[in-house]
Amino acid sequence: MEATTIVLFGATGDLAKRKIYPALYNLFVDGKLPKAFSVVGLGRREWSDEKLQDNVGKSIAEFSRRKAVSEEEQGKLNEFLAAFRYCVLDVGNEEDYKKLLTLVENREEELGIPQNRLFYLSVGPEFFETIAFRIKSSGLGTTKGWKRLVIEKPFGHDLATARDLNEKLSAAFSEEEIFRIDHYLGKPVVQKLEMLQQANPVLQAFWTNRYIANVQITANETVGVEERAGYYDKSGALRDMFQNHMLQLLMMLAIHLPSDSTSEDVRAKKKGVMEALVPLQAETVASRIIRGQYKDGAIKGEPVVAYTAEPGIPADTRNDTFIAGKLEIDNYFWRGVPVYIRTGKRLKEKSTRIVIEFKEPLKQASQAAQAKESGIVPNLLVFELAPNEGITLQLNTREPGAGGVFKPMNVDLHTHRDNTAEAYENLIHDAFLGDSTFFAHWDEVELSWAWVEPILKAFENEQVPLRLYEAGSYGPKESDELLAEDGFHWWFDD
Ligand code: BG6
Repeated sequence: MEATTIVLFGATGDLAKRKIYPALYNLFVDGKLPKAFSVVGLGRREWSDEKLQDNVGKSIAEFSRRKAVSEEEQGKLNEFLAAFRYCVLDVGNEEDYKKLLTLVENREEELGIPQNRLFYLSVGPEFFETIAFRIKSSGLGTTKGWKRLVIEKPFGHDLATARDLNEKLSAAFSEEEIFRIDHYLGKPVVQKLEMLQQANPVLQAFWTNRYIANVQITANETVGVEERAGYYDKSGALRDMFQNHMLQLLMMLAIHLPSDSTSEDVRAKKKGVMEALVPLQAETVASRIIRGQYKDGAIKGEPVVAYTAEPGIPADTRNDTFIAGKLEIDNYFWRGVPVYIRTGKRLKEKSTRIVIEFKEPLKQASQAAQAKESGIVPNLLVFELAPNEGITLQLNTREPGAGGVFKPMNVDLHTHRDNTAEAYENLIHDAFLGDSTFFAHWDEVELSWAWVEPILKAFENEQVPLRLYEAGSYGPKESDELLAEDGFHWWFDD
């Protein structure tokens, strides 16, 4: 791996503290960072190098999956911290970028490393454009090595703003240089989806509408709006989760990959899925999309207030905190297989999973009742992303002998081992390598926004009723009805 300088905007912020520093540290301990690397942290606060190093140390003590306890580990941590420098920067001030350029160049010279620069924008999206512009105009982006830009969602607020942002970023970085983080793509089980399919012809063979009855993608959360009222009330579940994380999961699941596919193949296949996703029309949105908002209720016995009573949320808000949808992919593999997606806040439990329900041969004949009586359930392939990680195949089994009923049996294909790399580690490591397989590419982002656009409009025009649901439930009952109409139900709701 080539020696690199990480230029981290937002070094004093929350994301850096919770995710980026622990991820970098774990990569360092695992020997997955370049041998020579330097981190230049930037922020508005008047911090010194020591203050940054001190804070990075604290973030590791609090948030890292590995702590530095033994003397040897302490030594390793100190070595890691010594790579950090701090520079005060006002994102709009050209002079500050000149200062930054001098610091970066000095460090490159001191360490004898090439000018490979990874610009990580851990800041609000309102700063993306200015920073990208200044990186170019100050000469920071004119390197003798490579340069890359890492940004986090949201990538735009709708199709028009996403296009506008992309145009601005493209003036300073090419598409190959932009790494858009969608942290769901870094989750270990999502990364295994691709591998499992590639390595197992048996799964590939079953990955079609011939055998699959429906697909269910769930991301239920127990948390409410937390301290993000300002952001969340303008985003809602549709922009915050559905347009990005949920559609990315759908793409990763729906692609068919030969074993030798490259990141370009993945990109092309994902684009293909989005292009095949049947678009919604103003008239069809209401029958396919359920829009919800939480009322008061209780989560695990603790009373919680309604969304409209949350601090900072206007009492008359119509924002969505829940969304469920029925989608169709009109291609050779998936035609006729409904894909149900749901996500929301203040639901009964935290659970993120993908369920593939296989067709029930017995059900197709006139033997449905017999199947039910005998205890046979459909075969399921379940990808659990949270709270536990695992991949299981549900089969039916029965003790030998007369009279017994069938019972579901789970074949465990993967269980979480403690201390496996977390999403940010996987993604940052790939950004160092320049491998964009598990990042959101512009085509996908644009097509996702285009797909949700009619929903955004229909919400705005009040063409989709806002269904209130009790906090601590599984969402509005209309979300269950969406599946019931097709003869299905959400798996694992009790
Ligand atoms: C973020 C959203 O992208 O993902 C949050 O902005 C949400 O609202 C979070 O809570 C969920 O992530 P995870 O990894 O906890 O499922």
